Amino acid sequence: MRLNHRSHNNNELRITDVGKTVELKGWVSKKRNLGSLVFIDLRDKEGITQLVCSEKFASITSKIRNEYVLYAKGKVIERSSKNPNIPTGDIEVEVEDIQIINTSETPPMIIAAETDALEDTRLKYRYLDLRRPQLQQALKLRYEVTKSIRAYFDSLDFIEVETPIIAKTTPEGARDYLIPSRVNKGKFYALPQSPQIFKQLLMIAGVERYFQIARCFRDEDLRADRQMEFTQVDFEVSFFEIEEFYSLVEGLFVKIMKDIKNIDLKVPFKRLTWHDAMNRYGSDKPDLRFDMQLFDISDILKDTTVSFLQNECTKAIKVSNGSSISRKDIDTYTELVKKYKAKGLCFVRMNNGILEGSSAKLLTDLEKKNLIERLDLHDTDLAFFISDKWLISVTSMGALRNALAKKLDIINENEYNFLWIVDFPMYEYNDDGELNAMHHPFTSYKKEDEKYLETDPLKVRANAYDVVLNGYELGSGSVRIFDQDEQRKVFEKLGLSDEDIRYKFGFFVDALKYGTPPHCGMGLGLDRIVMILNHSQSIRDVIAFPKNASAICPMSDAPSIVNQKQLDELGIQIKKEEVK
Ligand code: AMO
Repeated sequence: MRLNHRSHNNNELRITDVGKTVELKGWVSKKRNLGSLVFIDLRDKEGITQLVCSEKFASITSKIRNEYVLYAKGKVIERSSKNPNIPTGDIEVEVEDIQIINTSETPPMIIAAETDALEDTRLKYRYLDLRRPQLQQALKLRYEVTKSIRAYFDSLDFIEVETPIIAKTTPEGARDYLIPSRVNKGKFYALPQSPQIFKQLLMIAGVERYFQIARCFRDEDLRADRQMEFTQVDFEVSFFEIEEFYSLVEGLFVKIMKDIKNIDLKVPFKRLTWHDAMNRYGSDKPDLRFDMQLFDISDILKDTTVSFLQNECTKAIKVSNGSSISRKDIDTYTELVKKYKAKGLCFVRMNNGILEGSSAKLLTDLEKKNLIERLDLHDTDLAFFISDKWLISVTSMGALRNALAKKLDIINENEYNFLWIVDFPMYEYNDDGELNAMHHPFTSYKKEDEKYLETDPLKVRANAYDVVLNGYELGSGSVRIFDQDEQRKVFEKLGLSDEDIRYKFGFFVDALKYGTPPHCGMGLGLDRIVMILNHSQSIRDVIAFPKNASAICPMSDAPSIVNQKQLDELGIQIKKEEVK
């Protein structure tokens, strides 16, 4: 079907179209007045075409400003001075008729590929920001990725099922957004942190292969890769063996990468256990586009007399030819590792075959010799090390590893390095010393680790897995518990009383009694996938209307105060001191 409201879009005309009469519509991106001729860059979602207007149209062109909406009819002619930077740069349209469809106020920001507008201005006038070509492309990319995902699941007999948005609290570990009930005063619904419980109920319901491009809501601090409202590619299957499930997920990424980037992705993905990933790369989402593994040097320092090196674990990292790392950089890295609870950062530098640097004096000659050998240090090489509890040593070194790679510019931005992280611990302690499920409490554990449930719960490994790409956690999932006794045991271990279980998940535990099939599944962060494919640094760039870092929408000013009548209807009273 051809929509005839214009003959071409603004990215379509080429030198072969010279001589044609065309009708175009769009926004004024730029107007240049060159004496008798006026040039107008007419922009639509596809691109830009240059219009050239003779003096005959002066009464109209004199009124035209940026972002006016125009209709133009004219003949395609060859340009005398061509613009190689745009696809339509060989031609222009000699205007025979031009009409102003709508006017525009002067926009508060530059609407072009490059803009100097602050992010809050861009978000306040998001409808103008979205006119910029990168943003148009990002929306389109997101749509293409979603289409590819839907086609994949469709081809494998999955069906998309929508699950409730107004629901009950879900157990993903973040804070819930609550919705007060007017009809049942004093009671609250919660927005789902993910469709987790519903998709498991769909497995009990016999759906077998479910997926959903699902909106999720979490009241947590926002970051570049975190929004309060985000989208998951959520899926769940019954009766799959775990290896089949890994292939299913890998197949999805093979299709996305082929459809979107025309890249033939190599499968199967590399697999690392959680422990290996932490121990070797200091992260459960390591960026494997560069190597830079951590060295364990605890044994080298086992007899040290320096008290702050007498710890459970000392990890080192080597920087080959570290001459570009300045004193100031080292100060920045010291601050960085402190954020990960490390007490300090030691560093040494090889110079003329000798270890120098502020931490060299802490080491005996033998320790120095062993360190040089272990890390294979040569002149101009640097080494950093941290001694602390294992988790602190590895996570702080992991953060340093990423910072160093950025500084040394050793990351290939066009590489897509996927991997699986498997064998996550089932439990972790939160800051209050309570045992928490590391994934969520519907995750099954490895039967061979059952013996540790009572004695050493941190040793119990879960049947949980993450997909990681270029240092980002793209998604998580697990083989679920499908036996109500095992489910109860896991809840109890988390300190949930019978009453808690009944109140929070009673309906779910009941459902498990009715012939639950073995099932497993996963949730992938769609925003993160699109962000990486778009080479963006923030998921805000690939979401049409995101919130800013303070969880505010600068455009609509949400959240906002509601009137007393609304509060009264809900039976809610706001404490005066809580209102900012
Ligand atoms: P999880 O909580 O790990 O698992 O979330 C899955 C994926 O969702 C994305 N994600 C986010 N993206 C943007 N902003 C956020 N605030 C945010 N939080 C999470 C990440 C993450 O890897 N129900 C389980 C999945 C399952 O077991 O099937 C779940 O939600 O990419």
